[in-house]
Amino acid sequence: MKSVFLSRFFILLPWILIVIIMIDIDSKRTIRAPGAARTGRAQRAARTGAPGGPGAQNQSGLPVIFAITPTYSRPVQKAELTRLANTFLHVPNLHWIVVEDSKNTSTLVSHLLQSTGLNYTHLHVETPLKFKFTGPRATEQRNAALAWLRHHRSRRDSGVVFFADDDNTYSLELFEEMRSTQGVSVWPVGFVGGRAYERPLVSGGKVVGWYTGWRPDRPFATDMAGFAVNLQVILANPRAQFKRGGSQPGMQESDFLKQITKVSELEPKANNCTRVLVWHTRTEKPHLANEAKHRKDSVLIEV
Ligand SMILES: *[C@@H]1O[C@H](CO)[C@@H](O)[C@H](O)[C@H]1NC(C)=O
Ligand SMILES: *[C@@H]1O[C@H](CO)[C@@H](O)[C@H](O)[C@H]1NC(C)=O
Ligand SMILES: *[C@@H]1O[C@H](CO)[C@@H](O)[C@H](O)[C@H]1NC(C)=O
Ligand SMILES: *[C@@H]1O[C@H](CO)[C@@H](O)[C@H](O)[C@H]1NC(C)=O
Repeated sequence: MKSVFLSRFFILLPWILIVIIMIDIDSKRTIRAPGAARTGRAQRAARTGAPGGPGAQNQSGLPVIFAITPTYSRPVQKAELTRLANTFLHVPNLHWIVVEDSKNTSTLVSHLLQSTGLNYTHLHVETPLKFKFTGPRATEQRNAALAWLRHHRSRRDSGVVFFADDDNTYSLELFEEMRSTQGVSVWPVGFVGGRAYERPLVSGGKVVGWYTGWRPDRPFATDMAGFAVNLQVILANPRAQFKRGGSQPGMQESDFLKQITKVSELEPKANNCTRVLVWHTRTEKPHLANEAKHRKDSVLIEV
């Protein structure tokens, strides 16, 4: 009985060894495969995050910041977008939604976006002619970005939506402040309303009013750069939009926020709205009067 068992065992032994070797080779291969994918991400991180900057740090599990930037063709467009991209490269888990005011996406913006290595979506919508020179700006572009989010993101996605115009200066701290937004969060903005800053007035951790230089009667007297909205609030209010009809210039923010929240529900950020982390700097219009007086360059150079 024992010898029968032993002989069977010795017949099977080589096969058992072969199977063990095969399993070993196979598991080595499967270990190598995700390793290769990680290298890809690491290379991407090296490209997107500045070395040692917060962009290179732990990125998993953080809500995505969807930064919506309407933009239009003008002499400083590329400079402004470059400056903005350089800021965003330091922000972990940021998805840049750039919406051009144009018939088609431009090669200037397409190339710029590709070269940043940022995670982005490039859209375009042209402002109807009748609104080009009157009323609030970038209404159609911001709404196009909201429509994109509603089509491409779902209740499973965690994120925070922020309207990041290309003529502001952003502290990196601002993005970490807004990232914890549960509903709608607010904070001060520098150089708006004809004042050094505007801010929500906070008492007992709640917004109770506005320190502003213009139309304090606005229900939400804040600038486009002064608030962020949880992605789920955008998805739960599918009809909330920036309006042209009935919306005066400067009332866009207030009209939009009225559709999705109440003042009493606002979440104050930046130390109960006592720190300025974003500035409406605006770039000076470049002096180009001599362009027309001289012969054009012999090569075509993108500026
Ligand atoms: C990365 O961040 C997530 C979410 O903030 C956290 O749950 C996780 O523990 C962090 N991982 C490391 C390695 O720090
Ligand atoms: C729009 O631009 C893209 C690339 O920039 C190009 O492939 C496409 O042909 C353009 N469409 C029109 C209608 O001009
Ligand atoms: C880009 O961001 C989206 C979230 O909006 C995420 O699902 C996707 O994995 C990101 N892609 C890369 C390459 O980081
Ligand atoms: C904001 O104010 C509330 C109420 O006074 C306080 O509990 C909270 O700690 C303050 N938050 C910060 C970040 O200072």
